[in-house]
Amino acid sequence: MQKIIFTSQPASAELCLNELNGAGLSFNFLKWLGAGVGILETDISFSDFSVAVRESRLIFLRHICPADIVISLENAGAANLNQAVLAVCDNIKDTLPKDSGFSVQVRRSADVKCDISGLQHTIADEISSCGCSLNVRCPVNILSVYICRDEAYIGMSAAADNLSSWPGGMRRYAMLPQTVSRAEFKLLEALEYLNISIKGGRALDLGAAPGGWSRVLAEKGCLVDAVDPADLAEAVSKNPNITHHKCLAQDFAQDNNRSYDIIVNDMKMDVQQSAGIIMDFAGFLKPDGIVIMTFKLVKKNRMAAIRKGIELLQGKYECLMLKQLFNNRSEVTVALKRK
Ligand SMILES: C[S@@+](CC[C@H](N)C(=O)[O-])C[C@H]1O[C@@H](n2cnc3c(N)ncnc32)[C@H](O)[C@@H]1O
Repeated sequence: MQKIIFTSQPASAELCLNELNGAGLSFNFLKWLGAGVGILETDISFSDFSVAVRESRLIFLRHICPADIVISLENAGAANLNQAVLAVCDNIKDTLPKDSGFSVQVRRSADVKCDISGLQHTIADEISSCGCSLNVRCPVNILSVYICRDEAYIGMSAAADNLSSWPGGMRRYAMLPQTVSRAEFKLLEALEYLNISIKGGRALDLGAAPGGWSRVLAEKGCLVDAVDPADLAEAVSKNPNITHHKCLAQDFAQDNNRSYDIIVNDMKMDVQQSAGIIMDFAGFLKPDGIVIMTFKLVKKNRMAAIRKGIELLQGKYECLMLKQLFNNRSEVTVALKRK
């Protein structure tokens, strides 16, 4: 049986497991290893499981990795843990393809105290010493290690099969001096996930304040109409490529006659209302334009809210992506193109 570690946002762990159960995959859930980290076993290979989950387009599943080897850590101190993990890595290093870049990703559950970055470097040095080349940014293969209180799990896989080449799917961005808000990371991650590179054009940002998404779009060469009754950050309001329309999105729809290459919507409002506004803006999107929006979810009936929102949008749009990204909070990100 193949053991697989899977990851979602901690608050979406049960939703993620429900989605996996509803996707018709053959597996047994074994247990939770940490917040938003579970382990299951299946009678199909890791890569076949990966193909099946990708085809199912699951919303809450963020990352998977194989757990080919399980080391018992009962009574193991930090030194023993490192020795045990290194001994296993030493055994499998010869099976790694020499000509393709690899990365080592070590994670741990919150209740384990160990120096995972030190261990990661030691394993990487060990593997590099037998002629394999390290490529952390864009690995072809990933050696994944997950350490919890009683056990450590080790597995080797093609990066593409893990759903994300970031450890646990945790795509982190650096806060730069020009970053306006953490919200920027949601848009950056969505564009990266969709493999879209924006090079100019006209953009409409609904619910723009304090201006993170507008800033990102302007930085990519767009002329941005930023719509929000709230104020924009000073640097954003001074940006010559960003025009602030200090009004509600609903009112902007009445007076506007422009067409846009990209419409984004991060408005803090009920999913149905937000989807309804995006329906009203369909005529402003160029035929090959794209919409990126968030569905803000309240705790109750999250799946029902998502389904209703998508059903409404399908009247005029095709859904390209529906995903809870790492940088989403209580929300999912949706990408759409016109039908
Ligand atoms: C999460 S913030 C947006 C953050 C923004 N994406 C950024 O990167 O800085 C949500 C915004 O939606 C705006 N909003 C809520 N309802 C709106 C409406 N009907 N029309 C326009 N903006 C609205 C709020 O004023 C708030 O500034």
